[in-house]
Amino acid sequence: MSNSPILLDLPYRLHGERIVVRPWQAGDGVHLFEAVDESRDHLLPFLPWGPFHESPESTEEMVRRWNAKWMTREDMVLAIWDREEKRVLGGTGIHRIDWEVGSFEIGYWIRESEEGKGYVTEAVRLLIRFMMEHMNPNRIHIRCAVGNDRSSSIPQRLGFKHEGRLRNQIMDTNGNLCDIDVFSLIPGEFSRALSN
Ligand SMILES: CC(C)(COP(=O)(O)OP(=O)(O)OC[C@H]1O[C@@H](n2cnc3c(N)ncnc32)[C@H](O)[C@@H]1OP(=O)(O)O)[C@@H](O)C(=O)NCCC(=O)NCCS
Repeated sequence: MSNSPILLDLPYRLHGERIVVRPWQAGDGVHLFEAVDESRDHLLPFLPWGPFHESPESTEEMVRRWNAKWMTREDMVLAIWDREEKRVLGGTGIHRIDWEVGSFEIGYWIRESEEGKGYVTEAVRLLIRFMMEHMNPNRIHIRCAVGNDRSSSIPQRLGFKHEGRLRNQIMDTNGNLCDIDVFSLIPGEFSRALSN
């Protein structure tokens, strides 16, 4: 593997049984805006970026910035599409990237009308496989606000280890301090997430 992440030849699309995961790109803004706009009440308590999607244009600017960060491998903000790439189902991503340590965080959200169908679990599995094949991970972690049970059930379903609870770690959109549960996988544990 190259020492320079920017030189890594990474696949652009990950194909699951029912979904495609790929970087957000120019032209996606209108689709992402529609998905977020449908889901503001559902997303806002946990994802504070909802208000930044003010219009399709501002969202378009955002997806272009994300695509630039994908190219430099600084942050990987990814879309979850249906198999035909006609409808945005949600988003996922690989964040807090530490290439030296091989430490990566997975984040996710799903539009309200597509919740409870297993798309996020499928996307997280695709990302774990992608990281194993291309990123030499030593640690893959997921952080969930305490009380966000739908979110924490994803790492639990996939066999992540609960490492602990960080107290007063984030502030929600109402200004309340929240505790965070941290779940992780390290080498030797990745394949159990794929087979669970
Ligand atoms: C957290 C969040 C992403 C979870 O989404 P989700 O749709 O519940 O997650 P999944 O796609 O893995 O779906 C799991 C559900 O689908 C069911 N399911 C159906 N088919 C499935 C399949 N093929 N594989 C796995 N699960 C499947 C599961 O049994 C589970 O059902 P349950 O809700 O009755 O337990 C979603 O609630 C969300 O977007 N919340 C707001 C944003 C947020 O909190 N993001 C996380 C910040 S840390």
